[in-house]
Formats: sequence, C-alpha cells, structure tokens
Amino acid sequence: MAGERTSVTIEDTALDTAAAPLLDKLVSDGVASKVGAQDATLWGAEAESEASIRLSWTTLHRSSRPLIGEIEALRTELRSEGVDRVVLAGMGGSSLAPEVITGTEGVALTVLDTTDPGQVADALAGDLDRTVIVVSSKSGTTVETDSHRRIFAKAFADAGIDAARRIVVVTDPGSPLAELGETEGYRKVFLADPNVGGRYSALTAFGLVPAGLAGADVARLLDQAAGVADTLTADSTDNPALRLAAALGAAHADGAEKIVLADTGSGITGVGDWAEQLIAESTGKQGTGLLPVVVEGHTAPGFTSAGSDATPVAVGPASGEAKVAVTGPLGAQFLLWEFAVAIAGRLLGINPFDQPDVEAAKKAARSLLDDPAALTGSAEPSAVLGSVEVYGGAGTTGEGSLTDVLREFLDSAPEGGYVAVQAYLDRLDDASASLLRPELAKRTGLQTTFGWGPRFLHSTGQYHKGGHPNGVFLQLTGTPENDLEVPDRPYTLGQLQRAQALGDGQVLAAGGRPVLRLHLTDRAAGLAELMRAVQELAS
Ligand code: PA5
Repeated sequence: MAGERTSVTIEDTALDTAAAPLLDKLVSDGVASKVGAQDATLWGAEAESEASIRLSWTTLHRSSRPLIGEIEALRTELRSEGVDRVVLAGMGGSSLAPEVITGTEGVALTVLDTTDPGQVADALAGDLDRTVIVVSSKSGTTVETDSHRRIFAKAFADAGIDAARRIVVVTDPGSPLAELGETEGYRKVFLADPNVGGRYSALTAFGLVPAGLAGADVARLLDQAAGVADTLTADSTDNPALRLAAALGAAHADGAEKIVLADTGSGITGVGDWAEQLIAESTGKQGTGLLPVVVEGHTAPGFTSAGSDATPVAVGPASGEAKVAVTGPLGAQFLLWEFAVAIAGRLLGINPFDQPDVEAAKKAARSLLDDPAALTGSAEPSAVLGSVEVYGGAGTTGEGSLTDVLREFLDSAPEGGYVAVQAYLDRLDDASASLLRPELAKRTGLQTTFGWGPRFLHSTGQYHKGGHPNGVFLQLTGTPENDLEVPDRPYTLGQLQRAQALGDGQVLAAGGRPVLRLHLTDRAAGLAELMRAVQELAS
C-alpha cells in the first residue's frame, strides 16, 4: 500500500462540483508553479516577509541528499560502540515526522514530547549504556526539550557515561542550542535549513536525523518525494495538491471547517497525527481555519454520520463515507500535504507559516512557573467525585454527579462546534484516555478531537485559540506517582506539566472558550470513573 500511486480523489459529487471553480482558478493563477518557485507573494503583503524565509521545503528532496551519508556514518559509528537505542526529545515539528517515519517502518524510536514525569522516567529506565538522545529544537529554546536534555545529561553522568558523546543536536544555525552543542562538545550538531518552519520540516534534518539514526531508510523517503515533486508544481487540474487544496477550500467555504482524517489502509503509521499539526497550526488563526479531527478508522464516530460542518477524508483508499481520498507513499504524502495546506491557506486568506497563538500559552505557563503560589494553587475544586476533582470554568456550576458535570459542560458547545479532549497524562501508561474521544463523539454528535498535552500545544493548540471560536475544552490532569527534578531548574517536570495545563486553560478562558478541568487523583481509577460517566450521557 505504501508504494501506491500518489493521488487525490474527490468522491463526493457536490464537493467535486464546488471545488471545480477553485481548482480552475488555482491553475490559471499558476499557484502550484509559484509555490514551487518559492514565490513569497502568494499569501498577501502581510505574510510576505515570513513566507520569504519559509519556503525551502519545496526542494528538500534535493537539498537534503547530502545529509543521508552523514546520518549513515554517525549511525554506523554509534552501532560500533554498542549504541543502538535512540531517544528523541522534540516537540511538534521536531518529533511528529520522525515518529511517523519510524512507526511506518517498524523501527524503534522513543519519542519524548511530554512533560509527564512517569513517561519520562520510563524512557530513562531503558538501557542507558545503549542510548543516544537526539535533542531537536529549531528555536533551541523550547522548555520541554531543554528539560529532557538536562534530565538525560544528568542520568548519563550518574551512570558514569560521558553525556556529551551521547547527545546529538538538531537545530537551526545560530540558535542557543547550536551554541550549547559547541560549548558542551556534544557528539554532533546537525544544522537544519533555517528557511523551513517546524511543521514543514519532515524532510530536513529534523525528520531525517532521528529516523535515520534509529534505522529508517530515509533515502527512500527523499526518493518518494522526488518522484512526485514535478506533479505537485504543475499548473494542472490533475495536480493532487491543487485538488486537495480546492476540496478543503470549497468545503470550508460551505461551512465544513472540520477535516475528519481516518487511515483507511495507507500503510503509513500515524500520518494523521503529523497532518493534524500541519493543518491546524498552518490554518487555525484569525478566527478561521481547518480543524483536523483524527479518528480511529473509517467506521469511527465523526467519520460516519459527519454533519455539514465536517469533511471525512480517507488517508488511503476511499472507504466508508469518505468525501476525499489521499493515497501515496509517505515521502510523497509529506510533500503533497505541505503543498495542499499552504495553498489552502491562500484560499482561506491566512498566513500558513506563522503560529501567533502558540506563544500565548507558553507565556502563561512561564509566568505560572515564576509564581509558585499560583502554581500550587489555592483554587479549591468545585467538587470531588471519587478520584476526580472538578475545576469548572465560567458557566459551569460543577454540581451533581460526574455525568451531570459533563452534561452541563458539553451543553455549552454551540451547534456545529467541537469538543477538544486535552489529556496532560502519560500517553503510554494512560493510553486508555484516548478511548474517550469516540465515546464523547457518539454521545454528543459533535466532532471531537483528542490530544496529549503538552504535545498538542505545538499542534492543534494554535487552532484552539486562533481558529473558529466554537470549541469547548475538557482538560484532564493527573497526580504523578513520582515527580522528576529538572536539573538546575527551579521546577520539577510535574510542576511544568501542571503549569502548561493551567496556562493554556487560562488563555482559552480569556478568549471566551469554555474549559472544564478534571484532575485525576488516581489516574487509573479516575479514567475508569470518567469513562463510566461519559457512557451514562444520553446518546
Ligand atoms: O511548527 C512549529 O513551528 C512548532 O510546532 C514547533 O515545531 C514546535 O513548537 C517545536 O519548536 P522548536 O523546534 O523550536 O523546539
């Protein structure tokens, strides 16, 4: 399947008809060839300066070639020293692509895009003698990634291992991390192309270095992208990227701002999670955008019986109620989606290369970390129901049973709105939390997204704050069994995780979005109680 032809088909006749004039206009305006030529004027005067330093992704299938040998050489060297376990510390664009690449090839990669102390402790408990950590950050300042670097550096030192030999850096030239890599003498510093933004960086060092060190065939990815590059820059109605952009633009114009993504046998593992970031962060701003809703499959609630606010899109062969189907091998899909989303951004009238609302949550978390009193919180829960503490926002009384609390909260969603479940938990040990998504979708009839915090803050978090203002936000937090110190920092990982949840909650609430936080004092018991309460909601 992963080797199949790259194509976009519009299965729904009405959508095909609505997309046709947009497609014709994109062709007559020469948009595909202009993106290929890195024309920064395509998104309007305001976006031009940002776009002028963000378009190098169109030629990465050529410019990233020299990296392949460098990655292979380092991998061989590390293997000869018995180092064959790769941990990746990186958020959003600095980890989503390598996770999909290695998942698709069945190659082991431990991804740290969490501040959950339990999840990080589990990664630390792996065989450090065999471990190399790739610290990936374009800006070189992302707090989660810096915390992971500190924690691993200390763990290596405590185990008598020369930490500098086990830390590989991927960053932009001139970043604080690049500088640190030099002063600390880290094993290798890979400098990525600075003219590519995080979510478009799958085929830069950010995608290729961790995946290649873990053993994925990254040269093949570049071949797959190269194989489709000419098609994607062609001003033709057969161009799959133009077809996808026109379908998304037409759907949005008709009120279907949600894109429900189901893997229908693409042969790619987790491509929805990667595409989710690209779509949400690129388009979700200025009160508009496309909300990606990643679902479990083509029979999942939301993909089936999608309302007029949503377009079901199959990644893989058209199945079930899919209105659009996107096929192709992973390297080709990376480039196809990047072209399509950038062009959809032009149709929506936004700048697809900035993320103005991501910083707001980071700032709120930082100021909570600076104010330990606010962080430990004097706020009393409005109710304690078994293992669940209820912290209701404005408009919720938090009264009655857990089912009553949920019902009152969910009723605050407008018609055609959405529910976002944001779980600041351990995505391995608390994996059952994700089962809440289909259950809530089924019972509310609303499109429902699920994201692990803080990972989603670098992805759908942009849309939540900047996109269509019709979401309601269910935050799940949990007491960690054991917290972890962050070396030479005045906070623990657990405190950082808490600050991120509270900080984002504050920003959402300040923007008039309903927020309900449920804190699980016993995670396993709390999740079971929560599931029971959801199942008691009338469908
Ligand atoms: O797309 C983006 O720019 C973001 O999602 C970033 O990838 C994410 O915030 C991580 O940033 P950095 O790579 O600077 O650590």
